[in-house]
Amino acid sequence: PSPHRALCRSRASDLGPMLGRADRYRLLVIGDAFQAHGATYGSKRVGTFGQVGCFSFYPTKNLGAYGDGGMVLTDNLEIAERVRLLCNYGQSDRYHAVAEGLNSRLDELQAAVLRVKLRYLDRWNALRRQWADLYSSLLEGVEVPFLASGREHIFHLYVVKSKARNRLAAYLEEQGVPALVHYPIPVHLQVAYQHLGYREGDFPVSEACAQEVLSLPIFPEMREEEVAYVADLIRKFYQEEI
Ligand SMILES: Cc1ncc(COP(=O)(O)O)c(C=O)c1O
Repeated sequence: PSPHRALCRSRASDLGPMLGRADRYRLLVIGDAFQAHGATYGSKRVGTFGQVGCFSFYPTKNLGAYGDGGMVLTDNLEIAERVRLLCNYGQSDRYHAVAEGLNSRLDELQAAVLRVKLRYLDRWNALRRQWADLYSSLLEGVEVPFLASGREHIFHLYVVKSKARNRLAAYLEEQGVPALVHYPIPVHLQVAYQHLGYREGDFPVSEACAQEVLSLPIFPEMREEEVAYVADLIRKFYQEEI
């Protein structure tokens, strides 16, 4: 598909060719699966490709704790040891710091919440897929997410594209429907990365996406009428636009 097709978060990118290239050049692959708990590529879940997979359990994620949390997956013992060290002050044992580390352990309370919620993840993801399918069948006027074959999406977000994105977002807001932009400023234009010397125009696809993407409400507990209501509002918006 063209890179201009609607962004589809919460799914695996085209991992096959990337893993092949990494293998050829002996590169480590670190997968950011922060928004894709349970998504699959072929028969495997994301986070299990490459040498390291990372997840966020921030409360809004498909598998969210009641506070901040995260997880690193690896089957490499050396990396596992290093990660354990780094998230515990860089200490090899009590009071002996051998690396500059962090205080970023997953606390027991969050782990207990996640252990229970994990049982529901597949069910919740299936419901998200159901609402995404319904949106895609009802929506008119906006570009809906493209579903690549051989991958299962978990729709952390349901992102559409519209040339009239700002007006559409304002219209939905007026009608009491929260629709958010993920994200309005691409990385290369963030103040934090100005030292890299990129300018507007350097990444035209990212820049166009930042202008056009809109995340519509999606969550497992949504009801059919709510999805239809949002789709209906969007249809009305385009009728009034013309
Ligand atoms: C793709 C991606 N990577 C990394 C992060 C950072 O996650 P956390 O806030 O748990 O550190 C996020 C959070 O939204 C994310 O969406």
